[in-house]
Amino acid sequence: MPGVAEAIREAVAPLLPGFTVEVVPELDSTNSELMRRARSGRADPVLLVAQRQTAGRGRLGRVWHAEAGTALTFSLGLPLAPADWSGLSLAVGVALAESLHPRIRLKWPNDLWLHGRKLAGILIETASTGAEPGGARYAVIGAGINLAPPSAEGLATPPAWLGELLPQVQPGQVLLQLAAPLVEALLLFERAGFAAFRARFDDRDALRGNAIVLSDGTAGTAAGTNEQGALLVHTAGAVKTVTSSEVSVRPAA
Ligand code: BTN
Repeated sequence: MPGVAEAIREAVAPLLPGFTVEVVPELDSTNSELMRRARSGRADPVLLVAQRQTAGRGRLGRVWHAEAGTALTFSLGLPLAPADWSGLSLAVGVALAESLHPRIRLKWPNDLWLHGRKLAGILIETASTGAEPGGARYAVIGAGINLAPPSAEGLATPPAWLGELLPQVQPGQVLLQLAAPLVEALLLFERAGFAAFRARFDDRDALRGNAIVLSDGTAGTAAGTNEQGALLVHTAGAVKTVTSSEVSVRPAA
């Protein structure tokens, strides 16, 4: 990937001065590595790509597992100072989906879906390094995108993979395609918040109008998002606003 790494650096550095790209054969988790660096005071903008992760992490403390060569696993770390962080994972989802393919949909709060199956997941973490200006935090935006058929072991619904849409898909090309749009989206989010992404999220919202169940047992119909990116759910007699990152959502059977 050396040529592609340099092409990504050249595309992104004008947006993010000092930006670098690192590709490593193996790491426990690209998110964990950037969080460790941030806690030790490193706050430089970087795209860290691992060809294999031995301890990939998902939302809600879950494991994110991918066989070597079947997924693109990376984290983008950068200082960010939005007035309001709410809706960031939705904005990242919009940027990734738009840069990859018109058929990719978004499942609140941070999954990319294809044909009703999970194609990719996003894990966002932040750390204060004390080194960033103006109250910024170091944001670590991690994404795992299935490129080839992933293992479906233990899953009720087999995951989707990008090769279904783009048969000759190459990891380096995918990264080159999404890196600059992702950084542009993060800089727009920093200036304008989720409001700048709400209509774009709506265009790809996979849940809207569907019967869903929340992990706390609440059942209802997904009704889009509010201005902060919270999920609106029509339940019997009320509209519930779901903001908690600890809540997961699934379509009703
Ligand atoms: C989820 O679906 O719950 C989120 C999955 C996020 C996986 C990516 S892979 C790169 C980065 N490093 C990690 O350990 N996790 C994210």
